[in-house]
Amino acid sequence: MTANIEEHYNAYPYPARDPNDEHKRLITGSPSNPMEIDHHVFGGLRDWTKPLHVLVAGGGSGDGLVQIAQVLTDAKRPYEITYIDLSTSTRKIAEERVEIRGLKGINFVTGSLLDAPEYGEFDYIDCCGVLHHLPEPQAGFDALAKALAPNGGLGFMVYAPYGRSGVYPLQEAFAQLSAGMSPQDRLAFGKSVFQRVPQNHEFKRNTLVGDHMDGDAGFYDLLLHSQDISCTVKDIIGYLEHAGLALQNFTQPAMYLLDGLVPPDFKQPDGYSCEDEMALAEKLRGNMKTHVGYAMKVGEGVKLDPTDPAGIPHFIGEDPKKAAAFILQKGGMPVAINGQKIGLGISPQAAKLLGMIDGVANVGVLQKKSGLAVADFNAAWSKLSDLLCGYGLVLYSGLNKT
Ligand SMILES: C[S@@+](CC[C@H](N)C(=O)[O-])C[C@H]1O[C@@H](n2cnc3c(N)ncnc32)[C@H](O)[C@@H]1O
Repeated sequence: MTANIEEHYNAYPYPARDPNDEHKRLITGSPSNPMEIDHHVFGGLRDWTKPLHVLVAGGGSGDGLVQIAQVLTDAKRPYEITYIDLSTSTRKIAEERVEIRGLKGINFVTGSLLDAPEYGEFDYIDCCGVLHHLPEPQAGFDALAKALAPNGGLGFMVYAPYGRSGVYPLQEAFAQLSAGMSPQDRLAFGKSVFQRVPQNHEFKRNTLVGDHMDGDAGFYDLLLHSQDISCTVKDIIGYLEHAGLALQNFTQPAMYLLDGLVPPDFKQPDGYSCEDEMALAEKLRGNMKTHVGYAMKVGEGVKLDPTDPAGIPHFIGEDPKKAAAFILQKGGMPVAINGQKIGLGISPQAAKLLGMIDGVANVGVLQKKSGLAVADFNAAWSKLSDLLCGYGLVLYSGLNKT
């Protein structure tokens, strides 16, 4: 099976990237964002003067690798990164991107992430869009767990089934019809059959998936993949448990709650766990096509305290002052996640606190600036912080602390 994967990614490295575009832009995302890693793995309080040892497992054409290395380089933080991927042509693109940016401290390996423990112990392992492409995802989780340093963390993205509705029947049909073809013939054949698939096929009605419209590599990766095992929340929890890991959190944990999905007075049946709730939210939303989260070894998990005076909050996305002005005018803030629009109710007092976030001041400084007594500040701040962290809109990190 691995031979098919190598053949696939050697023919159509994914995602398709032109190294020259590194002159123009930095691709950012989750996982692979050092501030997000700090927030979820190190309680937002990592000592960034110590080198971060990173494994980018299944690094592909280099998006996560480049983001981690560039952000740490810009922040003048020490790091060592090992990149590993099965595909040589994909690695070549990642190497060119790194070369153009002049990034140092990266060791490129062509091989399998199943051998990860042979390459050392890592404070952070980045595995984005890979584990669902292994013949046995469990073997991948197990291998990566063994390569974690004490108190290290795994950042993962795996495909989720419900937001990808319609993908799997097409993958199965294309696989049967194109058996034995070269990747190039399979692509041409797949595209010609796809045109004949009726408009009311589940896939063509799914507005959440679009990779097939994003060039040959996107079409191949989405519809002609030979090994694609999407994971429900329950599958992920099971894989993690077996590997001796526990979920720290998903990057947008509010999407895994039933709030807003059931009537406010609905009482959950006795005996329901957080995991049951997350699994139900996944089913009721039906719009998740990936799960992005962080995990650590069982017993090593860190709980972030939003009222710790040393924590430095960052508002992700818009300028916090503009967001605060908008909230004061409109009484709340809209967010769009997985195509779903959600309105966040935020009080005028909370909006003012949000407007004070500047990515430099820590929570202790914000409390003093707010003019509120510590207890009053802590109550208002925790409520705001929990709300925004729930949507991945606030991250705590001292990455840029001087
Ligand atoms: C969908 S791409 C994701 C690339 C990258 N992580 C990203 O998010 O852009 C999957 C990558 O995983 C690699 N891969 C698949 N199985 C692997 C394995 N067992 N060991 C290492 N790499 C693997 C493939 O060669 C491919 O480059």
